Order: sequence, then structure tokens, then C-alpha cells
Amino acid sequence: MLEKIYTLSKSGEKIAMLTCYDATFAKLMEHAGVDILLVGDSLGMVLQGAENTLNVSMHHMTYHTKMVKNGAPNTPIMADMPIGSYEQDNEAAYKNALWLVKSGAQIVKFEGGGKRVETARYLVEHGIPVCAHLGFTPQSVNQLGGYKIQGKTDESAAQILQDAIDMSEAGASFVLLEMVPAALAKQITESIHCPTIGIGAGVDCTGQVLVLQDLLGIYTGAASKHPAEFKNPRFVRNFLQDTNSVQSAVAAYVKAVKDKSFPAAQHSY
Ligand code: KIV
Repeated sequence: MLEKIYTLSKSGEKIAMLTCYDATFAKLMEHAGVDILLVGDSLGMVLQGAENTLNVSMHHMTYHTKMVKNGAPNTPIMADMPIGSYEQDNEAAYKNALWLVKSGAQIVKFEGGGKRVETARYLVEHGIPVCAHLGFTPQSVNQLGGYKIQGKTDESAAQILQDAIDMSEAGASFVLLEMVPAALAKQITESIHCPTIGIGAGVDCTGQVLVLQDLLGIYTGAASKHPAEFKNPRFVRNFLQDTNSVQSAVAAYVKAVKDKSFPAAQHSY
């Protein structure tokens, strides 16, 4: 299934990815032409109502991965490795990655560069395709001091670029870039062998991802907060407001990614 995505990206066609957590939406997305479904640990926020992704477990991830697989048997699935499931040692990372694969994922995604490059190499050598998540890494929200753009200084941009090169050389199948300047994402995309997927990373990535609830304009922050306190990040676009159904909104997102009208400059840093 992944070969289709590589062929697509080599042909220059943009990859349209969306987060997905259940069978009903998975089926809808498969039929709307979404190229890859991401069972993201964002489910901790958009399904469970938490302020961040730090309470998501392997049980949550495998449960939702199975649901998505049931709904979309013919679409590649990427599943997030939740915090605590891959950092300790390579064997534990492999065991947990394999659990996600057995639940229906073709690719696992985890956050960070540096030490994580060896984790990626180990998983790839053991037959598990990997996506490296760089830039803003939500599992490190406390260390990063909040939801902030990464790679703004020369030093941090150089570090993200180096991490992306190292991940690509370690055999990662994708590098996902979250909330980094568009110029940096473009440079990374031109410097590595594997496709990049952007969220808040400009139009020059090989593909794009959005959180489903953001695309539908229905996410208003943690359950504990009043909706009026919530402000969408710059990279979010509500695709439902210009269409008359969820199916049409998802199809409009796919079309906008493919024709490069999303993300526009106002969605980028
Ligand atoms: O968990 C998730 O949904 C993600 C996206 C924000 C890329 O990692």
C-alpha cells in the first residue's frame, strides 16, 4: 500500500493526509480520496478532551488503530507511538511498534531527532516503516514551553534540518514537520530522500496533514476550557464552512492539498 504513496510523491502529486480515529470517518475518508490516515495521539485532545497528548496510552492507540483499519482496509494507516512507548530502549520501541502494526498500521510515527535516530534505524532494520515527527513535537510541550513555532533561530533551524537528514538516512519513510517556517520546510524537503508531510510548515512539503476536527471547525480546546477562550492555530482552515457536508469538506481538503491552494501564505509561518 505504501508503494502507491511513494509513486504519487515521485510524480510530484501532493500527499493528502488526515487524522482519523474511528471506522465511520475512516470509510468516509477512504472514499473521499485521502492518501494516508493518521491515527494521531491528538486523540487525547480531540476525543478525550485533555489539554495535551501526555495521557495517551498504547491501549488507546491500538484500539483506535483497529477501528480505523476496519473502516478503511485499503488506505495506508500511520499510527502514533504515544509518550513512554519508544524512549526507553529499542526493544520496547519495537514491541510497541509491532503492536500498532498488528492493530492495522503500516507506519509508526514518533517524535524527536537526536537519540531517536537510532530508534528509527532499529525499527526500520526490523521491518517497521517509520515517520519522524520534527519541529514542534506535542509530547514535549512542557519542555518547549507551550505551542510555539520551532526553527526560528539559525541554530534551531540547523538542528531540525540535521535531524531530518539523519532520520532520512536512517531509513525513515516520511518526515513530518509541525509548526516550522515555510522556508525551512522547503529546504528540508529539498535536502532529504523521503517525503515530508507538513502541518503549519508551508506549501512546499511533499504532503500535508490536518486534524479532522480542525478541518471541520468543531474543535474548541480542552473540555475544561470555555470555547470562547480558544483560538485556532494559524495553520488551521475550516473546510466545512464552504461546503454542505462532511464528505464534501474532506474532498475539498484533498483537492486543495493536491492543487496547492492549501496551505496558503496565511496558514504558514
Ligand atoms: O497526533 C497528531 O494528530 C499529529 C498531527 C498533529 C500531525 O501528530
